Amino acid sequence: MAKILVIHGPNLNLLGQRETDVYGTATLNSINQKLSSLTEEKKMNCICFQSNHEGEIVDQIQQAQGNVHFIIINPAAYTHTSVAIRDALLAIHIPFIEIHLSNLYKRELFRHHSYLSDIAYGVISGMGAQGYELAMIAAIDYCQHNCI
Ligand code: DQA
Repeated sequence: MAKILVIHGPNLNLLGQRETDVYGTATLNSINQKLSSLTEEKKMNCICFQSNHEGEIVDQIQQAQGNVHFIIINPAAYTHTSVAIRDALLAIHIPFIEIHLSNLYKRELFRHHSYLSDIAYGVISGMGAQGYELAMIAAIDYCQHNCI
């Protein structure tokens, strides 16, 4: 059974109450539930993980090796700072989609640079919570074509 890991970075546990003008009103729980139902429909498995700690995200990525087929990650603020998360993703050779609720390019200059985009399978930015569903559709499609 194909396994898709969804990683949510720091402060995304506050979705629904955090800067709703930028990030919308959907909660993390509602996003995760939608993603799980999309994978269940296709008889795939979705594991959702959130952490505010860089090292825990690195651990989760390392543990994915050999047992996860695809990763969807919103690294949140670590997008713009984390060589460690980049290196972990480079080490495991699992394709991933980088996703952001907001359009990074409409925002402050420091958000325009990502340590992950050039090594990602694809990037989604600015589609709000719907972006996660689009990422999951692409992940499912990838797994249907590439995973046994
Ligand atoms: C974010 C964008 C980041 O710049 C920010 O630090 C976040 C969320 C997004 O989903 O739009 O926490 O990744």
